[in-house]
Amino acid sequence: LPVASFDCVVFGATGDLTMRKLLAALYHRYRDRQFPDTSRIIAVARSALETDGFRMRAEAALRQHVSPANLDEETLAAFLALVHYRQVDALSDEGWEALVATLDERPGQVRPFYLATSPELYGPICQRLARHGGFSALSRVVLEKPIGHDLASARAINMAVGEVLPESQIFRIDHYLGKETVQNLLALRFANPIFERLWNADVIDHVQITVSEVVGAEGRVGYYDRSGALRDMVQNHMLQLLCLLAMESPISLDADAVRDEKLKVLRALRRFEPHEINSFSVRGQYVAGAAEGRPVPGYLADIGSTERSMTETFVALKAQVNSWRWAGVPFYLRTGKRLPRKMSEIVVQFRRPPFSVFPRDQHDLQPNRLLIRLQPEEGMRLEMMTKEPGPGGLHLRPTGLDISFEKTFGQRYPDAYERLLMDVVRGNPTLFMRRDEVEAAWDWVEPVLHAWAERPEAPRPYVAGSWGPTAAIAMIERDGRTWYEGI
Ligand code: BG6
Repeated sequence: LPVASFDCVVFGATGDLTMRKLLAALYHRYRDRQFPDTSRIIAVARSALETDGFRMRAEAALRQHVSPANLDEETLAAFLALVHYRQVDALSDEGWEALVATLDERPGQVRPFYLATSPELYGPICQRLARHGGFSALSRVVLEKPIGHDLASARAINMAVGEVLPESQIFRIDHYLGKETVQNLLALRFANPIFERLWNADVIDHVQITVSEVVGAEGRVGYYDRSGALRDMVQNHMLQLLCLLAMESPISLDADAVRDEKLKVLRALRRFEPHEINSFSVRGQYVAGAAEGRPVPGYLADIGSTERSMTETFVALKAQVNSWRWAGVPFYLRTGKRLPRKMSEIVVQFRRPPFSVFPRDQHDLQPNRLLIRLQPEEGMRLEMMTKEPGPGGLHLRPTGLDISFEKTFGQRYPDAYERLLMDVVRGNPTLFMRRDEVEAAWDWVEPVLHAWAERPEAPRPYVAGSWGPTAAIAMIERDGRTWYEGI
């Protein structure tokens, strides 16, 4: 459904996220005629640029990040005409009056402010916007993850922003929630009674969530070296996936009803004691190896350092949800850079048959598994044992019931940011994180951060192009289980 006309102000407009994701997302929505021509995209950054100069950069970014099939010259020119640039310094009073004057030219517009900057600037930017009269009842502030660096800094940011805006106007984005398959988790769980009946510790043996990437830290070294995989991926994306998998049925799809249930899961996560950290977590850092068939340097070379760095580029964790539904069912999480493939996948592994009528030496009964693939090629697969065809006797083998969403629906899957940006304009916060959720997620992650900080040993090395340190394999194998290497 098309949205109302808006003035979307993007802070951090010359940065990586705007250039790679936000402009392309807005372009696609515009091309699909999802917002009116009267809208404006007001790019804001510290650089001394004019609108023409910024449009040239934006055009280059769009030519790089939008597929040629979707890039027609006429639409591109019309889209760029909606883009304006204002030079503003987040940490001084320079530029704010001119920015607010631009916004006041059209008082009735919905006003999303997208803060694609470092999180330390979220508070100062919101406070200055408030002081200069930039907020209206139609304003919404979008905060990119990570919200802060730890629980205390997340709280400070939430306080600073909360002083000038009510929670209903604050949209904390986690782009994983905008992915089609992630939303499909809600459909899978709450529109299909056959699964919901099986969704508990009686039937499920364990759950695995893997988010692997081929890319290294290149390009975002400054940010990544201060962050690491636990802050960059686990505290937000992976915990959100865990919440959607583990939560109870919400009473409706209202934003707060869904977020209340996710919050309960975060609060039910068993907290790690410092002495358990090595049994329940593994951190790794890649060394030189290969990515997609070509040699690549290690993390230290990527960040241009000759000393050691304690930043983890890989993390594996064994999480547990303390509830009746999930008691005794481990949730194994792993994520890393420079792994063999880009893949985000959830594996729900069911218990083995309690007794087998098939002779053990001839039949290795595999457990049923439900595989939920977020990317690439969004889909689901239910693995079952079936009889091999033929008259030669009863031979079993695992086969899959497959749903490929792209083949089934035959359409382009919009990028997560497209969906989420339009939700901001509509004022629908269901797929955004509430303040207490973000804080609860930090609260769970923090003991791991502390325990790691206190230990002298560096992250375990793994060769770029491998599935991470062997300790991560040992962690799950100690429980008699193995990582599933993808469909
Ligand atoms: C971002 C992280 O939030 O998610 C990046 O900061 C990561 O480090 C990215 O590469 C992965 O997103 P996606 O959509 O490509 O899986």
